[in-house]
Amino acid sequence: MPENESTTAQTGLENLLHETRSFPPSPEFAAQANAKPELYEEARADRLAFWARQANDLVTWRTPFTETLDWSQAPVARWFADGTLNAAYNAVDRHVEAGLGDRVAIHFEGEPGDTRTVTYAELQRDVARAANALAALGVETGDRVVIYLPMIVEAVVAMLACARIGAPHSVVFGGFSADALRSRIADAEAKVVITADGGYRRGAPSALKPAVDEALAPKEGAEPTTVEHVLVVRRTGQDTAWTESRDVWWHDALESADTTHTPVWVEAEHPLFILYTSGTTGKPKGILHTTGGYLTQAAYTHRNVFDLKAETDVYWCTADIGWVTGHSYVVYGPLLNGATQVIYEGTPDSPHQGRWWEIVEKYKVSILYTAPTAIRACMKWGEEIPAKFDLSSLRVLGSVGEPINPEAWMWYRRVIGGDRTPIVDTWWQTETGAIMISPLPGVTAAKPGSAQVPLPGIVADVVDDEAHAVPNGGGGYLVLSEPWPSMLRGIWGDLQRFTDTYWSRFPGIYFAGDGAKKDEDGDIWLLGRVDDVMNVSGHRLSTTEIESALVSHEIVAEAAVVGASDDLTGQAVVAFVILRGEHADRAADADGAAAVQTELRNHVAKEIGPIAKPKRILVVPELPKTRSGKIMRRLLRDVAENRTVGDATTLADSSVMELISAGLQKPS
Ligand code: WTA
Repeated sequence: MPENESTTAQTGLENLLHETRSFPPSPEFAAQANAKPELYEEARADRLAFWARQANDLVTWRTPFTETLDWSQAPVARWFADGTLNAAYNAVDRHVEAGLGDRVAIHFEGEPGDTRTVTYAELQRDVARAANALAALGVETGDRVVIYLPMIVEAVVAMLACARIGAPHSVVFGGFSADALRSRIADAEAKVVITADGGYRRGAPSALKPAVDEALAPKEGAEPTTVEHVLVVRRTGQDTAWTESRDVWWHDALESADTTHTPVWVEAEHPLFILYTSGTTGKPKGILHTTGGYLTQAAYTHRNVFDLKAETDVYWCTADIGWVTGHSYVVYGPLLNGATQVIYEGTPDSPHQGRWWEIVEKYKVSILYTAPTAIRACMKWGEEIPAKFDLSSLRVLGSVGEPINPEAWMWYRRVIGGDRTPIVDTWWQTETGAIMISPLPGVTAAKPGSAQVPLPGIVADVVDDEAHAVPNGGGGYLVLSEPWPSMLRGIWGDLQRFTDTYWSRFPGIYFAGDGAKKDEDGDIWLLGRVDDVMNVSGHRLSTTEIESALVSHEIVAEAAVVGASDDLTGQAVVAFVILRGEHADRAADADGAAAVQTELRNHVAKEIGPIAKPKRILVVPELPKTRSGKIMRRLLRDVAENRTVGDATTLADSSVMELISAGLQKPS
């Protein structure tokens, strides 16, 4: 095991070995399912022909492609490269042209209870207007646009407007701080930022625009910003500072814009978006996705994994558009498939803990896609809460973002799914663009806690340190052995990092960074990250990024961060810090330690965002290091998880762990 191998993964593995329950699809569900067992056979017989068929069936091409895959410049793939298309046309216009303009695309539910229904025809007009507005602000094909918005209809419109003119969008999650926003804007060299005055969060307006103002303000040592304009959606009506020459109200810009717009037909490999995600270093990676292959796999997976019937289903994915799940399964997948979906702005417990179930009942949601953390939170609140609502419309449930423990899986199925709905546990990543490993409802007998099988068209395996496939029953690293249409095409501006991160561990195959196990049937069980990436409530956070935020505070000399198992959030951020000499006794008593903890947590929130705040910060006199100076996080994780500290013999100074443990046992 490598030094930083997750021990959570190992504990998880022991529990999972006892899981033997299996839920075969009902004959009724199987009979009506979009996916049939033959899909696997078709893909196995000729993988490229299979993907070419999906691309032709699910996507409308302006110019048809003649070559499916060009892998000659591996690891940068080119899929359907000589075809041309437009993502927004595929998501919206073609449905209107097919006579489906009156179909509801979005049922919007604001947190305060305001609602809005948007048909495909209305969406088309709004997207065209927004595209014209962006063009009027000087945005051209290829320019980058940063989107920093709450979960409101305009977020979807903004993304599609960018896609319409071939301007790659880079959505930054609204919970990220001004500093995090600044670095993402700078890395993408964005020309325009689209934001809002604010959004509603836990019953109150929460401002967004001030973070944009701060991110764009001149800063010592930073290059002047490339941003020329800021488009501002009015959502909360709160007071907003205004920079006359730069800021433009979204409603003003759209009002004066034409309601028709000719989409820019781009090549299949034209960049569709950049999405920043945490890696193992302090600097977030701008994951680059292109158009044709991404759309093909987003639509294919959405249709087959969720068994979408566009005419009758009401689909709801609870993810924020700031994450990849929001890109593929709120915007592109569902809209390409002509789905009717729910978008909800707020938190699950505002104004009460039954809000989600109230929404399911109100809109008769039939497909629900959410994260294990949310399910565990609902479990904690108690099953009497969902029991108050009529959830009988639900017919497929999905899970994503982190391993789902069998208990949460069973609760999800029984309490939310009425013991009748299939559950799809979908494994994928920002990098993979779309779902890669998942049961198919109507085909796979589901096992609680396992993502089970690569989808038809995907080749995945679990390998050992030498890249040999492990036998059934064995554990190792998850790899993807063949290129797939929605794979990332690189890291924005850093091809070398792309190769080093994903393709150098096992030459020629994609290293996902996840540990996994194959059970006796050959089904895959995901066990968590094997690198310095944490997964907190399904959000990816980098230990190094939080460590650099901590050491940027004047009182901190050194910091080490670990992800400790947490019953609710999967993992929780625990930080160990050494204070600088002159501040060392600030944490000497309980009050001092609490004050230091608060100050540092707020500092991390400012540097990265509230989601990265450590749950606990422990002030220690030393950190455990190997002779080569590498921090042994494994030992710190033992402390954070209240376990007996493991083998410490490779430490440069083996007494360090005793020092740390002794210090922590002091009442503090
Ligand atoms: C984890 C989210 C187990 C995994 C779509 C992966 C999962 C990381 C699952 C990607 C799942 C996602 N079971 N683990 N069903 N889905 N993960 O980029 O560690 O935010 O590498 O993409 O989440 O997180 P990302």
